[in-house]
Amino acid sequence: MFGNNDIKLITGNANRELAEAIASSLNTTVSDATVTRFSDSETWVEVKDNVRGADVYVIQPTSSPANEHLMELLVIIDALKRASADRINAVIPYYGYARQDRKVSPRTPISSKLVADLLTAAGADRVLTMDLHAGQIQGFFNIPVDHLFAKPVLIEYLKERFSKENVVVVSPDAGGAERARSFAKLLKSPMAMIDKRRSKPNESEVMHVIGDVDGLHAVIIDDIIDTGGSMVKAAEALMNNGATGVCACVTHPVLSGPAISRIEESVIGEVVVTDTIPLSDNAKGCEKIKVLSVAGLLGEAIRRIHCADSVSLLFV
Ligand code: R5P
Repeated sequence: MFGNNDIKLITGNANRELAEAIASSLNTTVSDATVTRFSDSETWVEVKDNVRGADVYVIQPTSSPANEHLMELLVIIDALKRASADRINAVIPYYGYARQDRKVSPRTPISSKLVADLLTAAGADRVLTMDLHAGQIQGFFNIPVDHLFAKPVLIEYLKERFSKENVVVVSPDAGGAERARSFAKLLKSPMAMIDKRRSKPNESEVMHVIGDVDGLHAVIIDDIIDTGGSMVKAAEALMNNGATGVCACVTHPVLSGPAISRIEESVIGEVVVTDTIPLSDNAKGCEKIKVLSVAGLLGEAIRRIHCADSVSLLFV
């Protein structure tokens, strides 16, 4: 199918551990490349392996520092294009800037569309990503986007961890209701939702719980935990409504600013995340955080794309 029929994997500096785990799931190694900075902070890339005619997968979440990691990804893609790679696949397990997916007020950007344009202009032929904050970001691209879900990995853990009788799946906001519903269906559990309301301007947000959580262990499903504010407030509301405990189950551990101290001081018993983004040393020291790997899932998706097999079959 391709001139150089091997899968080639390249990584920047955003999550080398995940890239190596994906490579090992595919019985291969990450190709040799230098991704570094000049003294003035400009990004410099040199791909050491021959990629002419190859099907290349660049593994790079655009996590913090988002601008540096995005620039590394763009420059790697440019280097691959100029090295005559046959197909360049941008594997972006965490798509940074995804929360800027619409104009929230006049004279504000839609940065997730800008990032899509930059990736395409650099030379990406395909994007492989996971749990996009907003599914419609796929439409910002005019190249194929394979949108994966961490759900199979998270569900397997939740099924082992909780018996279906005592769990209620909770969406922390209206936007996450569809995601939470699909988890509730697989866990055969009831579902609830947090409704955030401000009764008057400048009054603080009140969390209303819609649905019955009394006597049940709440599992809050979200795509991102960033400063932890939304999750901690939702957990408090659930405990005030009679939940017996709270587990947060989130794909992308952004965990910026006060996140770790908030989690440690909160009523949340466990925060289950994936390795789309590597944990900081501070986060690694937090005993409440449990990391599940999506390397096998990403590796299998890469194998299927390379062999032109169905990717959606991974999620039935
Ligand atoms: C919002 O719609 C997202 O799904 C997350 O709930 C949000 O980005 C988390 O942010 P933070 O942890 O800072 O409250």
